[in-house]
Amino acid sequence: MNVTVSGRIEVIQGDITKQSVDAIVNAANNSLLGGGGVDGAIHRAAGPELLAECRKLKGCVTGEAEITRGYKLPAQSVIQTVGPVWKGGQYGEDDLLANCYRNSLALAAKHGIKTIAFPSISTGAYRFPVERASKIALTSIKNFLDKNASIEKVIMVCFSDEAYQCYARAMENLQIGKPRSGH
Ligand code: APR
Repeated sequence: MNVTVSGRIEVIQGDITKQSVDAIVNAANNSLLGGGGVDGAIHRAAGPELLAECRKLKGCVTGEAEITRGYKLPAQSVIQTVGPVWKGGQYGEDDLLANCYRNSLALAAKHGIKTIAFPSISTGAYRFPVERASKIALTSIKNFLDKNASIEKVIMVCFSDEAYQCYARAMENLQIGKPRSGH
C-alpha cells in the first residue's frame, strides 16, 4: 500500500538501490568514502566508479548535499547528504536533518531532476528517533514541493516495516491536518 500526499510524495517499503528515478539520495558520512547501511548498499550497487568520483568531492558538511553520477544504479544520479548524529535533541539535530532534505531537493531542482527517492536519513547508525525524523522529513519535503513545481515526485523508501509504519502515519497526519477554524 502506498500513501501519497497531494500526489507528489509517496511512501513505500523497499530498497532504494532498486528505484528507477532520476536521483536517489544517500545517507552518507562526512568523508563521503562509503560505509555501512544504505551508504554501503548504494556503493555496492553503483560500483567502484562512485567511490572514485566521491574521492574528488573532498567530503560533505552535515546538512549539506553533493551530487554524483549513479553508474550501475538504475538512477542516473546520487545526491550525497550527511545527516546529524542523534545526541539527545539539544544540538540542532532537527534543523540539520531538515537541511539534508531541503538542500538535497534544492540541488536536485538545480540539476533538472524530476523524480527523487530518499532513505530515512540518520535513523540507522546515527540513531535519530524515526518517529521524530519522519515528521521532519515529510514536513521539509512538503514545504519544498509547495514552493517548487519542478520536482514531480518524491519517494520516501523505507527499508524496515517499522520505518514504513512511522512515515505512513506521519503522511496521514500531514494529509488529515484540519484547516484551523476562523482562518
Ligand atoms: N534502501 C533504503 N533504506 C535503507 C537501505 C536500502 N537499501 N539500507 C538501509 N536503509 C535504511 C536503514 O534501515 C535506516 O532506516 O536507511 C536508514 C538510514 O540508516 P543508515 O544507513 O544507518 O544511515 P544513517 O543512520 O544516516 O547513518 C549514516 O552510517 O552507513 C554509515 O557511512 C554511513 O557513517 C554513515 C552512517
